[in-house]
Amino acid sequence: MKVYLIGFMGAGKSTVSRLLSSKTGEPYSDLDSRIEEKAGKKISTIFQEDGEASFREIEVSTLKAAEATIISTGGGILYFDETGQWMRQNGIVIYLHAPFKELYARIKGDQTRPVAAKPYKELEALFNKRNTAYKEVAHHVVSVSNRTPESTVKEIISIIQNS
Ligand code: S3P
Repeated sequence: MKVYLIGFMGAGKSTVSRLLSSKTGEPYSDLDSRIEEKAGKKISTIFQEDGEASFREIEVSTLKAAEATIISTGGGILYFDETGQWMRQNGIVIYLHAPFKELYARIKGDQTRPVAAKPYKELEALFNKRNTAYKEVAHHVVSVSNRTPESTVKEIISIIQNS
């Protein structure tokens, strides 16, 4: 059974997936890193040179091809309506949630994240829209607000054991 970690930028999806992998011994795949490896360029360069639509196509095909058990997705993984349903049918979907202000403090000014360059109000609106979509898709919502990755991973392991 696969575990998909979803959530907004800055939620700690990559860190949590790495730690979850080391605690459970199950392999993990970080989609953003896989995309950069496959494309041979950074995500910011893909956005600049090929455009967001092209990035989203690569993103969804990388998701569908991922063989690892634990899969860390990018914040825009629900760009296409059908992707959420696809993940739900293929594994457990866990939404790592924190309030927007906390996430914003972590991602503001991050040059590696093209979407984070949007003005505050626009990003907040994007968070609100995605927050609704993440909740609809997720089997479980796990709070990552003011919390260590270790504590988050403990909760996720207990979710997996009870699934
Ligand atoms: C994006 C989030 C990024 C990355 C890309 C687009 C988004 O991943 O996939 O820059 O649209 O929110 P993280 O959520 O890991 O930052």
